[in-house]
Amino acid sequence: MCVFIFNQTEMELIAKIRKNAAKNPKRIVLPEGTEPRMLKAAQIVLTEKIAKLILLGNPEEIKNEARKLDVDIGQATLVDPLTDPRREHYANMMVEIRKKKGLTKKQAFELLNDPLCFGPMMIKNGDADGELAGSINATGDVLRPAFQLVKTMEGCSIVSGAFLMFVDEKFGENGVLVFADCAVMPDPTEKQLAEIAVVTAKTARAIVGMEPRVAMLSFSTKGSASHPLVEKVQKATKLAQEMAPDILIDGEMQLDAALIAEVGELKAPGSKVAGRANVLVFPGLEAGNIGYKLVQRLAGAEAIGPVLQGMAAPINDLSRGCSVTDIVNMIAITANQATETM
Ligand code: ACO
Repeated sequence: MCVFIFNQTEMELIAKIRKNAAKNPKRIVLPEGTEPRMLKAAQIVLTEKIAKLILLGNPEEIKNEARKLDVDIGQATLVDPLTDPRREHYANMMVEIRKKKGLTKKQAFELLNDPLCFGPMMIKNGDADGELAGSINATGDVLRPAFQLVKTMEGCSIVSGAFLMFVDEKFGENGVLVFADCAVMPDPTEKQLAEIAVVTAKTARAIVGMEPRVAMLSFSTKGSASHPLVEKVQKATKLAQEMAPDILIDGEMQLDAALIAEVGELKAPGSKVAGRANVLVFPGLEAGNIGYKLVQRLAGAEAIGPVLQGMAAPINDLSRGCSVTDIVNMIAITANQATETM
């Protein structure tokens, strides 16, 4: 939820993200097609040509709602999951995708009645490039069909969630930091943590345009404490460095060593990341989720996200308290993800 006034860096970055998206408008499917905030956001996105939109739902209901709100969604494609002629084809595909789970065609047809299932199938069949939902649906209900049908991208076994954090400009990349995982994986293994580091670095490059310097966070810096949880981050750091030798990744390190130059020099001398990290990888979801909210609430930082990463195609989840502006920005981010090789 946006409650703080946008700072200059953030406004510039959002303008850049929207402009980038408009260069090559992608097809973004919105399963919550009758939701008033979605319709208001759709009008802005269509006017600014940020993306081509596909709204799911009963077309008459969508049009009626738009009329009531006095918004113009004339350029959007309206698709009814209940009657769409592609249902038969999608159902066959679903049976194939979920054959190990024993999904029957009857069950597939029933699932396709749910726009949160129909949307991912449009992506899977190449009929859409990305999806944004969650304004009226819980995170799990948005993510589950996406995980099960669209699945993860090559080289990535899990989906995780990053936040773009806008803080004082003396930190990170002129005040921009990317935090992960703050949204999805409760207790990642070493390998999963390594994957989160690499994919978050790619998100930082693709969405923010920054050259990532990734700090693998812990309560220990370079062996200052010994504990199985510290070893886990040490092993994850090594794995991440092997997985992406072209990316600056270092750890394990404490938050102050990651962000403050003098502390970094003292605790991790010679590190190219310590003291100047712009990507923070948390050891688990508890730290990540609590950490981003602390910075947001106590430091007044603006937080954009979660930007889901690691999926074979971009699908993002909104907070149910999201504003129209949040939706427009997340559509633009989803469209950028669809353009970039993530
Ligand atoms: N990446 C890829 N696939 C996944 C992931 C993942 N991170 N997690 C689960 N899956 C897959 C599973 O492999 C499984 O696939 P299968 O059916 O083919 O076997 C399917 O998704 C369902 O998996 P479950 O283990 O049954 O997971 P469940 O549906 O119960 O939960 C969820 C998934 C909702 C994402 C869970 O991991 C979760 O609750 N995470 C925390 C979300 C959360 O509450 N975040 C904090 C709030 S968000 C915020 O504050 C911004």
